[in-house]
Amino acid sequence: MYQSLLDSNPSLSPVLAEITRVGRYLWHKGWAERNAGNISVRITGILKEATFDRIAAPELPLSNPFPELAGEIFIMTGTGKRMRDIYTDPFNNTLIIHIEKGGTAYRVISHSIDTLGDLRPTSELSSHLNIHLFLRNNRPNSKVVVHTHPGELIALTHHPDLKNEKVINQLIWSMHPEAIVVLPKGVGLVPYTLTGSHSLGVVTLKALENHDVVLWEKHGCLAVGQGVEEAFDLIDVVSKSADIYFKCRQAGFVPEGLTPEQLEQLRRAFGEEEPKTDDC
Ligand code: 13P
Ligand code: ZN
Repeated sequence: MYQSLLDSNPSLSPVLAEITRVGRYLWHKGWAERNAGNISVRITGILKEATFDRIAAPELPLSNPFPELAGEIFIMTGTGKRMRDIYTDPFNNTLIIHIEKGGTAYRVISHSIDTLGDLRPTSELSSHLNIHLFLRNNRPNSKVVVHTHPGELIALTHHPDLKNEKVINQLIWSMHPEAIVVLPKGVGLVPYTLTGSHSLGVVTLKALENHDVVLWEKHGCLAVGQGVEEAFDLIDVVSKSADIYFKCRQAGFVPEGLTPEQLEQLRRAFGEEEPKTDDC
């Protein structure tokens, strides 16, 4: 069933390939212990309606309804599945869901009842759907959500002095010139919220209004973007900054960090250009 969807929708294979590739990166980075992390991509439009038999698939309830997402299709990692297995066996670790009319249920369209087994969407489904809805309405080209557990970023959010968006961004920018170039708006900071809860998605939306990367306090990190690799890259840059910070501390010194002048120079050199006026 999954294979036939790939055969009849040629644009789907590159999306699945990107998910599996990034799943492997997350594992190799050490950010994906056990089943840590999840990835989803909105693929409505990539899958032609005529190529799947929705009704043959089981209808499963959504714990929180998303009526505005009715008719949308998502590919995502399964709950409890290991990132390291996604690369080797994507068909048994990822799935494709269709949100049903009314947004109170979904159907798994990549698997039949016989092959579904214990494969269900990530436990962070509610957060992912909330974010996808927000992205569709505000940044329609951003169709990807990546969540992972980089130890160095989680460690930062355990420091009481760093539980402040301004302070934590100052630290992230000052550790590594790339950080301010790639993330001029910095990262959003989401206060600790129960994993898998609907509330986690709700508080994340607030932080995503001005950012593409957010830190989930004492839990992990989440990025959105147009591609899975792109979202991964953003997390990788932030994580490198945190890594440099901890390397310095482990070596026994407090890092000097880039000075405000150096950061300003980077902003000027790589920031968005001021719009030019015609009359000068
Ligand atoms: P899932 O295996 O359900 O995707 O959960 C992993 C995770 O990181 C929860 O935040
Ligand atoms: Zn998590």
